[in-house]
Amino acid sequence: MTSAAGAPGAVPDGAGFDRAWSSLLPVGRAPTGGYHRLAWSDADLGCREWFRQQADAHGLTLDEDHNGNQWAWWGEPGPDAVVTGSHLDSVPGGGAFDGPLGVVSAFLAVAALQAAGVAPGRPVAVVNFSDEEGGRFGLACLGSRLMAGEVDPDTALARTDPDGVTLSEARSRAGFGDRRPGPDPDRLGRIGIFVELHIEQGRRLAVDGVPVGVATAVWPHGRWRLDFRGEGNHAGTTAVADRHDPVLPLAHAVLAAREAAATGDALATIGRVEAHPGATNAIASRATAWLDARAPLPEGVRAAVGRVEDAARAAAGREGVALTVAEESWSGGAEFRPELRAALAAVVEGRLGKVAQLPTGAGHDAAVLAASVPTAMLFVRNPTGISHDPAEHATRADCLAGVDALVAVLASLCR
Ligand code: GLV
Ligand code: MN
Ligand code: MN
Repeated sequence: MTSAAGAPGAVPDGAGFDRAWSSLLPVGRAPTGGYHRLAWSDADLGCREWFRQQADAHGLTLDEDHNGNQWAWWGEPGPDAVVTGSHLDSVPGGGAFDGPLGVVSAFLAVAALQAAGVAPGRPVAVVNFSDEEGGRFGLACLGSRLMAGEVDPDTALARTDPDGVTLSEARSRAGFGDRRPGPDPDRLGRIGIFVELHIEQGRRLAVDGVPVGVATAVWPHGRWRLDFRGEGNHAGTTAVADRHDPVLPLAHAVLAAREAAATGDALATIGRVEAHPGATNAIASRATAWLDARAPLPEGVRAAVGRVEDAARAAAGREGVALTVAEESWSGGAEFRPELRAALAAVVEGRLGKVAQLPTGAGHDAAVLAASVPTAMLFVRNPTGISHDPAEHATRADCLAGVDALVAVLASLCR
């Protein structure tokens, strides 16, 4: 890859960014603030429609695969393609930037290259990967992992959301029921390189004082479900000695997750819990906690999960509560190719003057693709580091710097 600091006239169009960004902002706003764009929901379908309109507006050819991923091709879909994009779904009550910034920037970057009269020497595509967050069915990066053959389609289709709706039903309701998900080696084989731009989900770039960074690695991470089964009873009449309260061992699991994280070797979080039947004046009969664990190496993740499970089992034993633990999702993480990230860093530095290189504990489709194709990521500064929350934010100037960097990278790659 050569420096593209001189990509002729290919500057991001600030007004174009504002238009694209503001056209997506109303889609899937949560009444409580932030965004609720869960896979195959009406909000997600609204995002997909927005993608189609953007593809059309930029003269790109729309192509929607059987895993729900959307592709917009500049030129014929073909081999050795330069692909850029991210995802449009969100976590429940998420922010506006996680995912959409990469898709909006991808369209803007293509538009900048088109406006500069660049004739790409290889196919270029913008992608919206389906269900990256796993916010509804619990399987992270589902669209890219199905494409890569990493998830069994039947297992995925049988997954249920919190209302008991299966993925299969949700896809049917969305008019997608006749497309069977599964491995897509031909499509994967067409990707010559994938570059995902994403808001940083931490404060490293803010601390370093640089608007754009290049990813070195994505940590491995996974999700576990802990089901505690006790005995429901009256809160006002049941003596402590007679209780089998499933919420107590659940509380020990929460504390153990924090202790595992406090070692500094891993991060472990319980961010979702349910107690059944959920009455203030009743001891719950069962309770469920979902554990998210991440670390630089898989062994670190396993060690953290082991600590939480041990603590939960010990407490469950003391309370006479049964515990089952199931791994719901596993993402192996990725170390991006050093020569590719060095090349990207040189291009970004040539364009913006400075760049940082950093790993991330957040999950990305880029990490899934990295197992099969050359892959890289650009991060855009997040002043507070807050993410997966309505307060997630990047300044307009930094978003434009991100588009600028992506333009330079694409110009260099598609020569
Ligand atoms: C997705 O953003 C994740 O890190 O889980
Ligand atoms: Mn996310
Ligand atoms: Mn994301």
